[in-house]
Amino acid sequence: MSEAISYEDAWARTDKFDPPAIFDELRKERPLARMVYPDGHVGWIATSHELARQVLSDPKFSHNLEIGHFPVTKYGGPVPQFPAMPGMFIHMDPPEQTRFRKLLTREFTGRTINQLAPRVEAVAAEQIKHMREQGDSADLLESFANPLVLRVLSDLIGLPYSERDRYAEAPAVMNNPFGDAQESMAAFAQVGAFIHETIARKKAEPGDDILSRLIASGELTDEELGNITALLLFAGYETTEGALTVGVFALLHHPEQLAVLRADPSKIDDAVEEILRYITVNQYEIFRTALEDLELGGHAVKKGETVTVSLPAANRDPEKFGCPAELDFGRDTAGHVAFGYGVHQCIGQNLARLQLRVGLRALLEAFPDLRLAVPADEVPLRTHGSVFAVKSLPVSW
Ligand code: HEM
Repeated sequence: MSEAISYEDAWARTDKFDPPAIFDELRKERPLARMVYPDGHVGWIATSHELARQVLSDPKFSHNLEIGHFPVTKYGGPVPQFPAMPGMFIHMDPPEQTRFRKLLTREFTGRTINQLAPRVEAVAAEQIKHMREQGDSADLLESFANPLVLRVLSDLIGLPYSERDRYAEAPAVMNNPFGDAQESMAAFAQVGAFIHETIARKKAEPGDDILSRLIASGELTDEELGNITALLLFAGYETTEGALTVGVFALLHHPEQLAVLRADPSKIDDAVEEILRYITVNQYEIFRTALEDLELGGHAVKKGETVTVSLPAANRDPEKFGCPAELDFGRDTAGHVAFGYGVHQCIGQNLARLQLRVGLRALLEAFPDLRLAVPADEVPLRTHGSVFAVKSLPVSW
């Protein structure tokens, strides 16, 4: 195991909840391993918890896509280096990133987000009512997780949910690595045009939403506003929807943990954190590029080399989490990296947690006999794409 692995080896997930088995071997033998990227670049992949946090918190590593090498193929080939997009702060380094991120921090504090709880509860109740109206079985993704996550996120950002046909499909089209590049660009252009139309409407008629408040701040150009709005939609939608759906799947597949939660609903916050750690939906496309020659994990990493950080591997590191392959609501999950680490750590994590907490609680309360409607191995998985997900989750009650 001393030669460079291929990026393809690293993404061959075979089990529904476990990251690719190669990560366990790598973490044990060489937690920083050489990896050949799709464009031929020989970079690195980090699989231990310690190295993941080191890379993500070291300012000598950049998240600028113009210098980074993409660790996966998309649309049938290597991904070309992207030009910088104004306002797209996930791909900026401080202090530029800080300027944009600061405009949003107050929107996502625990206090601000928890004020949304009644709204999230109301949407969850409404979706449960629709589920009941359908009979005694449904696809949990389509009938619950998707509308819950998208409605709450849309309201918060300021995108009109009633016009979701114009923006809701784009993230899935763009994140489909087997899709078509033209189709993906067209989807981005379409959602971009819709966002700019919405910006114009909000300027004329502001609402109680992030977009209206960002406009009112007077700090941003229209292009920056558009890209920040797109970033919130793209970063907050499939991740939370995936975590909620796969989270329910994991819960139903582990009846003993389900029983623990049913017996003591006050364990919901522990359950949410453990589910986040256990499933770690951001399965790839987390990477940074060295801005100078440096030492990492006993290796010399050269300026310009890209290091991929496997968050799923880091969250299954036995040095950090005992028996990491077990879903255990009693464990100490502190320090998990499902939301990343360092300056880019997820700004929307309080919202994601709220949606998971309310969504899971509502389902368990409404359906005392909630169960999978097909054998677990028949649940269709979406194993490729930056976010791990299921294509549907048939449940009955
Ligand atoms: C379970 C749900 C979610 C998960 C697992 C998740 C995960 C992550 C991760 C791993 C990162 C860091 C990426 C990196 O370092 O390269 C990140 C960043 C980010 N997330 Fe989330 N996220 C979730 C929900 C959300 C929500 C609901 C929003 C907003 C509405 C959001 C907005 C963002 C933004 C804007 C960034 C970039 C932050 C920055 O660069 O400063 N995320 N997320």
